[in-house]
Amino acid sequence: MSASGKDTLTVRDNRTGQDYEIEITDGAIRAADLGKIRTDDDSPGLSTYDPGFVNTASCRSSVTYIDGEKGILEYRGYPIEQLAEHSSFLEVAYLLIHGALPTKDEHDTWVHEITHHTFLHENIKTFMQGFRYDAHPMGMLMASVGALSTFYPESGRIDDADNRHMQIVRMIAKMPTLGAWAFRHAQGKPYVYPDNELSYTENFLAMLFKMSEQKFDADPRLVKALDILFILHADHEQNCSTNAVRSVGSSQVDPYSSVAAGIGALYGPLHGGANEAVLRMLRRIGSKENIPDFIKGVKDGNERLMGFGHRVYKNYDPRAKIIKKACDDVFEVTGVNPLLEIAQELERIALEDEYFVKRKLYPNVDFYSGLIYEAFQFPPEMFTVLFAIGRTPGWLAQWLELVQDKDQRIARPKQIYTGDRTLDFVPAAQRWA
Ligand code: SDX
Repeated sequence: MSASGKDTLTVRDNRTGQDYEIEITDGAIRAADLGKIRTDDDSPGLSTYDPGFVNTASCRSSVTYIDGEKGILEYRGYPIEQLAEHSSFLEVAYLLIHGALPTKDEHDTWVHEITHHTFLHENIKTFMQGFRYDAHPMGMLMASVGALSTFYPESGRIDDADNRHMQIVRMIAKMPTLGAWAFRHAQGKPYVYPDNELSYTENFLAMLFKMSEQKFDADPRLVKALDILFILHADHEQNCSTNAVRSVGSSQVDPYSSVAAGIGALYGPLHGGANEAVLRMLRRIGSKENIPDFIKGVKDGNERLMGFGHRVYKNYDPRAKIIKKACDDVFEVTGVNPLLEIAQELERIALEDEYFVKRKLYPNVDFYSGLIYEAFQFPPEMFTVLFAIGRTPGWLAQWLELVQDKDQRIARPKQIYTGDRTLDFVPAAQRWA
């Protein structure tokens, strides 16, 4: 409770001299309450104008907590550092979707369900083979997930809990198959079917890299590192792609169509596409000696330091710290990525430079992840697919929360109209005469 004993805001509209008292709840006011501030009964009430929703809460959520100033990230209250060290991606997926860690039976049932839904309808394979040889795998993933809604038309019954559960299991299970097949398509290699004897992440690596050998044998250190990367990407509260999933989901469309929208948002270079952009940036810099020139380009506004900066984190992204450590484990197996040295020097310089310090720009989740993915022999265009596989449980947990939230309505923001009004139309014949 505040000093005055009242959690309210008193607002004076100087246009009318009228005072208004507005409730403050959980550090926010309801934008709708501003609607009662008007100059007269016929004029519209006040709205808020917030491009990019920099200071607007769109929902109440208990899935993920972030403290950007302190660099804290928790899934359902559990610190990301503990989950990355002690949990598995499928257990974290269960936690995000169900809101609690599973018992042994719940865990085993969950893993069994997901393991036995990794196969795709053969027509999806035909559909994917229709893409150009050089189609970006994110475009293929977005289209294929959207197409899945036509294979499971019952997924539109979003008010049916069992049906929701089935679609959630299917999407978590099939995302690696779709991602691996998009990769094999680009490589011109035969698609590898899921192997139900392998763990989730091992199976993904097998579908990516298995050739003529009977059984794919992944290095357990690489499997563990990729599983941790999936955990780190699993959710991140109301980021751009989750906002897309919620916005599209608010029309009560099926979850496949909602997640396809999220994949589209993640595809963008300012969001999930940043990990791919980081590698291209490091390659362009080429050597440590070129870093000062590049930094100058950033300050002149001709470059963007990809993998740096974040809407929420004004401190080191906790995920970047864990990924940086995972680099060592992976490079022990694959050999050090030569670009690591440039990345580390770039980070060292940026963290001391006033331009970045003043803007609180620190490495984010994308700064080092690309270096690991490249060490796995993934081409840059696959990096965001890996991000999407990791983020799928988070998108679905947020979608599930949305469809069960009585406070939610179809997303339909206002605008401030700046165009012409009531023009008289002149038919083309007269206009062109
Ligand atoms: C992800 O939201 C999430 O949670 C996303 C994510 C998730 O898990 O879902 O964490 C994943 O998307 C991580 C971010 C990956 N993107 C990048 O690495 C691309 C580079 N970073 C940026 O473009 C930028 O920092 C954003 C998009 C991440 C954040 O943009 P904001 O919050 O809108 O910040 P801004 O663009 O308003 O920047 C504030 C200032 C500006 O300078 P001024 O205009 O005030 O002079 O900082 C500058 C920007 O020019 N700035 C950068 C910069 N990022 C911001 N300058 C140089 N390099 C950068 N990377």
